[in-house]
Amino acid sequence: MELTREQEDILNGHEGPLMQKYMQQMVRWGKAMNARRFIPVENVHVSGISAPGHMVIGMNDSDKVMEGMKRQIRESTSFKVKAPTFTHVARITMNYAEQRGLEADQMAFQLEVIERARKAGIVLTWSCAPYLVGVVPGKGQICAWTESSAVVYINSVLGARSTRNGQESAVAAAALGVVPEFGVLKTEERAGDILISIETELKDSLDFGLAGYFAGEVAGIQIPVFEGMAPFSLESAKQISAALATSGGVTMFHAIGVTPEAGTWNDAFQGKSPKARYVFDDKAKKAVVDKLTTVRDGVIDHVMIGCPHASLEEIRLVAELLDGKKIDSNIKFEVWTPRAIRSNAEDMGYVKIIEEAGGMVLSDSCPAISRISQGRAMATHSCKQAHYSQQLLGNRVALGTIEQIVVSAIKGRWLS
Ligand code: F3S
Repeated sequence: MELTREQEDILNGHEGPLMQKYMQQMVRWGKAMNARRFIPVENVHVSGISAPGHMVIGMNDSDKVMEGMKRQIRESTSFKVKAPTFTHVARITMNYAEQRGLEADQMAFQLEVIERARKAGIVLTWSCAPYLVGVVPGKGQICAWTESSAVVYINSVLGARSTRNGQESAVAAAALGVVPEFGVLKTEERAGDILISIETELKDSLDFGLAGYFAGEVAGIQIPVFEGMAPFSLESAKQISAALATSGGVTMFHAIGVTPEAGTWNDAFQGKSPKARYVFDDKAKKAVVDKLTTVRDGVIDHVMIGCPHASLEEIRLVAELLDGKKIDSNIKFEVWTPRAIRSNAEDMGYVKIIEEAGGMVLSDSCPAISRISQGRAMATHSCKQAHYSQQLLGNRVALGTIEQIVVSAIKGRWLS
């Protein structure tokens, strides 16, 4: 790679061992991806479980792992971020600490991580959907984001540019202020590869998630272009982005006439022809629901709404459906959302309604990341949560709309 004088100096350790380590990592990554140079990064989203100096937090890990993590955080050297930087979710949520039996040392550890991140200048958004709380990079801006669903969202819906980052590369980007230039950071790498014709009505955000899950499976790491897709809401954009990055390794998509770089067919494919064509119709939609639904007996004991984190509109809908009702006492009912949105929802009275019905509104994490709620029967509106809840937590899953989930939670049985 071609390095500037300043970058060479960092690589040679002139700015200390931590910065040297980050530069070594980035050079190795850049070379592996055939990048020729570094370019400035303007917006970073770091994994909440890494934070500065590779801080790592955990909740359900063994004592030995926890001890290692604590030692790491205490030994780590901090830095000041060189670009606006925000935190992804953490492994722990501090809401309802007493009710959930959170231990004092877990709280103390999380507070230590928060303090270290604050000192580094990392903004504590603690969300997988930072665009919900004002982190909205502009079209063409170079970013380094973790969280695959958010990466698809900003590339496709906002037209900003980020490759799929891991926790090491995002922290290094924040510390160094640069990223290796490759992949979707370059205009010519943003051309569509395959065509997906939408031949069914996409009525709600669940349907957009199903379309995304179907497209991710056939796309793999290619860029799908949707034809016949109507303009979508923020909630639908969240679901399609998350699902594409779950069943596949998709970094971005185009929707002709809808997303910012796909005004026309030619724009979406940059003048090339699609390598393959697929149809998403009623049959394909049902096949995804059938694949992700493993609750067969109607029994559910956990509800998860907010994957990616719930918007204020989704919380409003949940509150409206629960107003004056009671959730079945056998069901653990959780809505996950960024802190700032939770605060808005509190101001609007939505949190009180959900709590009075027997539910909780939680921030900072989610079941898949915190690895809580294993071996349950979970109802969710998210194809991503449905997928990982089965794969990571060994749960059985019922997949449906938010309306279907809330009504089922009140009845105490899954109403398909
Ligand atoms: Fe967010 Fe957890 Fe889903 S991090 S995207 S709520 S799996």
